[in-house]
Amino acid sequence: NYYAILMAGGIGSRFWPVSTTEFPKQFHDMLGTGETLIQTTFRRLSRIIPEENILILTNERYKDLVLEQLPKANPGQLLLEPAMRNTAPCILYASMKIQKENPEAVVLVAPSDHWIEQEERFTDDVERCFEACRERDILMTLGIKPSFPNTGYGYIKYDTEEHGNGAIKKVLDFTEKPSYEVAKRFVKEGNYLWNAGIFVWSVNSILQAFRDLQPEMYTLFARGIPRYNTLAERRFINKYYHKAENISIDYAILERSHNIYVLPAGFDWNDLGTWGSLYDKLPKDNSGNAVINARILPLNARNNMIRTAGKKLVVVDGLDDFIIVEKKKVLLIYPKQKEQDIKEVLLRVKQEF
Ligand code: GDD
Ligand code: MG
Repeated sequence: NYYAILMAGGIGSRFWPVSTTEFPKQFHDMLGTGETLIQTTFRRLSRIIPEENILILTNERYKDLVLEQLPKANPGQLLLEPAMRNTAPCILYASMKIQKENPEAVVLVAPSDHWIEQEERFTDDVERCFEACRERDILMTLGIKPSFPNTGYGYIKYDTEEHGNGAIKKVLDFTEKPSYEVAKRFVKEGNYLWNAGIFVWSVNSILQAFRDLQPEMYTLFARGIPRYNTLAERRFINKYYHKAENISIDYAILERSHNIYVLPAGFDWNDLGTWGSLYDKLPKDNSGNAVINARILPLNARNNMIRTAGKKLVVVDGLDDFIIVEKKKVLLIYPKQKEQDIKEVLLRVKQEF
């Protein structure tokens, strides 16, 4: 009865210029492990969930990339989105299909592009959530102890008083991407966790939540999602998918539901969301520089994230805490501190060049 929805349709815009709309980061070997991020994630999930029950949700333009990188997945496991509408619509689409196939299903929703090291602990935690969601009508998320006021995450305020569920805590409030000031307060107050973006729920619970909290989207999809990948389904999706609101599951459901529980994760986690988070996971030289592909002569340069397109010698002097990334026709030299802004930079680049 266990299923997974693997989300692989984001464009990883904060990893520009390496991650692009044509070739987003989940299809890159970002860590130099010899595997792309989606390959590692698929392997991790298949330890817990039958491979044929792992649905891969992605934009139709990445179909060939997915089939090439995940040769074990059959085309029926791919649900293709004709438009980018963020995570709520794709989760609803997949959940409706899963429910038609197996109304008892319990589903893990996972991003395709995160770093998780202790796989065994990950497996334990997911199994614990599966167990809780099999019995109860709740929505669960995995929480990470925050180490600094990151404004790119969702924050979970949990009930410290409740002990009835063992390690599982009731969520009092969910705040997606707070301002810096608010994030700072959350970290200081202590009873907050970062949302890892990894969710578990029964297919019935999540569909009920959509019915209650996103009735318009629910009605839109309820008209036309059949059980098999029929031509009629393709036609329906191609015609109606773009009408769904462009909204993430965090804003659409988690911020609005009162039925959320969190399991503080037992594993180390990094969402590899920005160059800085990748830097944290890479080996460094004596001056704290993380270097991919290049060789560098660091004269007076510390804690930089450097990646060249091919093998190249880089000489840096007088520069600390910068991202230096080369991709065919683009060279980005940008302060690590402002890494969240690369998204906006990319928008300007698209408008002006
Ligand atoms: N199929 C599909 N379609 N997948 C998508 C789409 C889409 O339109 N948009 C994003 N995704 C995928 C991304 O590839 C990624 O794996 C996952 O969904 C989450 O999207 P992000 O764009 O990376 O979200 P985020 O990082 O801004 O925020 C989320 O993750 C944080 C932790 O990494 C939220 O859940 C936060 O609350 C959370 O803290
Ligand atoms: Mg992310």
